[in-house]
Amino acid sequence: MSNVNAANANSYHIVEVKNLNVVFGSFFAVKDVSFFVNKGEIFGFLGANGAGKTTTIRVICGLLCATSGEVIVDNEHFIPGKEDIIKSKVGYMSQRFTLYNDLTIKENLAFAAAIHKVPRKTMQKNKSELFELVKIDRDESDLVADLPSGIKQQIALVAALIHNPTLVVLDEPTAGVSPASRAQFWALIKRLTEIGKTVFVTTHYMDEAENCNRIALMRSGELIAVGSGQELKQNTFKQQIYSITPKNELTKEQIRDFSQKCDLFKPYGIHFHVIPKDGQSMGDFETIANVENVTPSLEDVFVQLVEGDR
Ligand SMILES: Nc1ncnc2c1ncn2[C@@H]1O[C@H](COP(=O)(O)OP(=O)(O)O)[C@@H](O)[C@H]1O
Ligand SMILES: [Mg+2]
Repeated sequence: MSNVNAANANSYHIVEVKNLNVVFGSFFAVKDVSFFVNKGEIFGFLGANGAGKTTTIRVICGLLCATSGEVIVDNEHFIPGKEDIIKSKVGYMSQRFTLYNDLTIKENLAFAAAIHKVPRKTMQKNKSELFELVKIDRDESDLVADLPSGIKQQIALVAALIHNPTLVVLDEPTAGVSPASRAQFWALIKRLTEIGKTVFVTTHYMDEAENCNRIALMRSGELIAVGSGQELKQNTFKQQIYSITPKNELTKEQIRDFSQKCDLFKPYGIHFHVIPKDGQSMGDFETIANVENVTPSLEDVFVQLVEGDR
């Protein structure tokens, strides 16, 4: 067992989702989903568009009532009419809407604080701590519309944290920001766990998912895998994966021929990730490509579990 799992074995579940169903009309957006999130971890929620991630998040944040099942956040059950209890514990940065472009940074943050009924003094204290943590170097009177997307995301995060929630829920926080800003944002996510927050985050980027302590994979409303990155990799791939780099560009016929001899044959940058079928040797590949053993990435896991069945 890895250190992360050993440390989490007795840890407190800040989120418990039990047999959650969310049905729109006759359509199951979320189907019998159960998982937990440990306090203090970065929990990654992955899946293709339409997998049911945002719907699950809306239930966790107390914005949507489940059709059936149970969601417990920091020991509180969702009770219609008493959503404020859960909302005080959760900081939510939604996928689409984050800030008002036509307000300044200061006005946006004051508005976010007002929604959560944060007293003025507390807001000032939280704000200055958050500015220090996020290392925001902008004038508060700047209009949000004029900010680069990376800074907007940071301000949106401060807005989501202004009431000092224990759980931070980020729905695709890095969609549409530059690779450099994505890296900065993930450094920030790590700092949040260092000050005791738990982070629940969705992303499409598999390299980002490698930063998560535990990961859940959704497909068509169902949870198809949950565990640490290492556990997902071990459980998905029992066999050795090879990376092959063709010496010359492969012809269509070669690609078809090799695909038939493999359980996995996927382009991966300029390489292919390959698992030969039982009984097939790598000899055929070695004549036309450089062959190396590789450890699977989460991208491999995702391709195999989420896209493999299509
Ligand atoms: N309010 C709604 N009414 C009807 N269908 C919805 C509603 N919200 C989401 N859906 C559908 O539920 C499915 C899951 O959506 P969503 O949770 O947003 O997925 P994801 O965030 O993983 O992309 C999609 O097919 C979406 O169209
Ligand atoms: Mg979504």
